[in-house]
Amino acid sequence: TALVVAMDGPSGSGKSSASRGVARAMGLRYLDTGAMYRAITWWMLQRGVDLTDPAAIAAQVDEPSLVSGTDPDDPTVHVDGVDVAGPIRSQEVTGAVSLVAAVPEVRARLVAMQREIIGKGDIVVEGRDIGTVVAPDATLKVYLTASAEARALRRTAELNVEAGGPGGTTVEAQQAAMARRDTLDSTRKTDPLSMADGAVEVDTTALNLEEVIAEVLRLIGE
Ligand code: CDP
Repeated sequence: TALVVAMDGPSGSGKSSASRGVARAMGLRYLDTGAMYRAITWWMLQRGVDLTDPAAIAAQVDEPSLVSGTDPDDPTVHVDGVDVAGPIRSQEVTGAVSLVAAVPEVRARLVAMQREIIGKGDIVVEGRDIGTVVAPDATLKVYLTASAEARALRRTAELNVEAGGPGGTTVEAQQAAMARRDTLDSTRKTDPLSMADGAVEVDTTALNLEEVIAEVLRLIGE
């Protein structure tokens, strides 16, 4: 049977780096489900869909074609043939994605796509509902956490690296934006962020990336 590693947790817990590192170390495929929610949000923003109206979102959900790559060294996501890996990280998309991700029709489409990709073989999958909904039979379920301060510091540092210098954001602003998104993600009615039955919690507050990867590899080996 296939090796499926589910990596869930809130923003800034280190899911993406750790998941890619584990996939690379073991030669597994990698799927970033958050990038899929971001890609559909990017498309809705381009189209001018009213994101405060769940019915308007639901009516459009099947329109864009979506293709997710599974190479941990080159995570791509194409919308209608265009690679949107860069634009989906914009503040505009980040601020809107939780509204789109709360719509049941959006989740139904993306969860079905994710299960199809997972069905093709060994993979590390990161998201918010992988262990609870998408792949409840995963070989290993990890729930990554970290203190709110540590998560905000990491995200601010990432944004500064992307901007090539102080990126016009502050740790305080990031902490507030993340708290807002975490609340939306964990209180929505459909598949809220929560720790799956049988998940192992890994608190990454005091761990560096190599240590988190090593811990997940150790858990896979158990
Ligand atoms: O950027 P960050 O790591 O914080 O988030 P992400 O993994 O890119 O996910 C962006 C957003 O997509 C989350 O805030 C959720 O609203 C949504 N999401 C979800 O609902 N379910 C998933 N499996 C993955 C992401």
